[in-house]
This record gives sequence, C-alpha cells and structure tokens, in this order.
Amino acid sequence: MSSLLVIEVSPGGEHSVSRGITAEFVSAWSAKNPGGNVITRDLAKDPVPHLDGEAIFAGYTPVEARSEGMVAKHAFRNDLIKEITGVDHIVISTPMWNWSVPSVLKAYIDQIIIPGVLDGSGAAGLTGKKVTFVVAQGGSYAEGAPRHGWDYETGYLKLVASALGSTDVDIILAELTLAGVVPGMESLIGKKEESIAAAKAQAKVRDSA
Ligand SMILES: Cc1cc2nc3c(=O)[nH]c(=O)nc-3n(C[C@H](O)[C@H](O)[C@H](O)COP(=O)(O)O)c2cc1C
Repeated sequence: MSSLLVIEVSPGGEHSVSRGITAEFVSAWSAKNPGGNVITRDLAKDPVPHLDGEAIFAGYTPVEARSEGMVAKHAFRNDLIKEITGVDHIVISTPMWNWSVPSVLKAYIDQIIIPGVLDGSGAAGLTGKKVTFVVAQGGSYAEGAPRHGWDYETGYLKLVASALGSTDVDIILAELTLAGVVPGMESLIGKKEESIAAAKAQAKVRDSA
C-alpha cells in the first residue's frame, strides 16, 4: 500500500495558496493510489518545538545516563524520523517567509536530522522516496525580477531532501501571490493567477509516473 506524508506549514487556512495547491496534489494522489495511506502533519496547528539542550545532548549521552527530559525529547525526534522514513512520498507545503522557510518548518527539519540516525551523510533514510515541495511566494525571484537571487528557500529545501538521500525531488512553485493583496502589485494579478493555475496543474500530474 502506498503512503504519503503531507506536512503543512501555512497558518493561512482556506486563504492559503500552498494549502490549495497541496489539496490538488493529495486528491490526484489518492485517485491514483486507491487505498493509499495519507498522513497529515500540520505544523501550523501543532508546531514542533525548537531543539533545546536536552534534545541535542540526549544523542551524545549514554542511554542509562539520560534525564527524563532527554529520553522524552529523543523519543519524540525518533518518532518524527519513523514517520518520514516510513512513507513512499513526502509533500512539504510551505510559504516563503522573509526570503526563507517559516521558522516552524526549520524547527521540524532540525528535529528530524540526528547524526547517525537521519543525517546528511548520504547514506540516509529518504533514499528511494519522492519529495515534493509546494512553495507559495508573495513576490517573484525569477531571473530578471528585481529580487532575483533573494530566494534562500527553494535551494535550501532541495538541498535538505537530497542530503537526506532522495534523488526524486520536485518543487511546485506559485509566485506573486501578494498581487491584489498588497497595494502596488495590481498589474501582476494576471501573472499570479497564471502561476497558481500552473502550480495546480503540475501538482495533479506530479505523481503520475
Ligand atoms: C511573515 C511573512 C513574511 C513573508 N515574507 C515574504 C518574503 O520574504 N518573500 C515573499 O515573496 N513573500 C513573503 N511573504 C508572502 C507569502 O509568501 C505569501 O503570502 C504566500 O502566499 C504565503 O503562503 P500561503 O498563501 O500558503 O499562506 C511573507 C508573508 C508573511 C506572513
């Protein structure tokens, strides 16, 4: 039975562009994988904590010497790792915030990477898995845009997935989502609509292979 882990990040609810595109993905995936298992982890509703000293040093402390807090925090990280390494396809659906990922997604990434367990050594747990990022950006960072080169999000996300072993990584990007929302971007509304429609179309066929 195929399995899909969907990680949602946006707090935007029904107004969220990334969630809207991801819903198209999930509905196409479910149609292609009848009986498939979809697990959703919503970091906007249930954020994971930032790493603290106990969480970090648990890994370097012999099991018998770990405090209660270390045991619980290490177990939490291992449960997250089991979840992400136990599925065939992972979809991470996120906005751009301040030219990068929202901190709640960075906190999740920090939680799941443990040296020797799931790490960037290349011999890692996402080998053979598909990873799809659905990214919504209020502006555009495409070649020729005034802020081309300011996108510290998509390259970083691709790096994380491939460092963890996936060789099938895709980014579905919707840009200019703030057109019509913030003053001064009215002339870009058409491009925004085109970008969202293209992202939804891409989301529907991403898993067709
Ligand atoms: C706190 C915050 C920071 C943002 N920073 C950026 C940014 O640096 N670049 C950008 O293009 N859009 C930025 N945006 C706009 C969002 O990326 C855009 O609204 C996107 O559609 C949000 O995703 P969602 O619709 O799925 O919630 C920011 C929005 C918020 C709320």
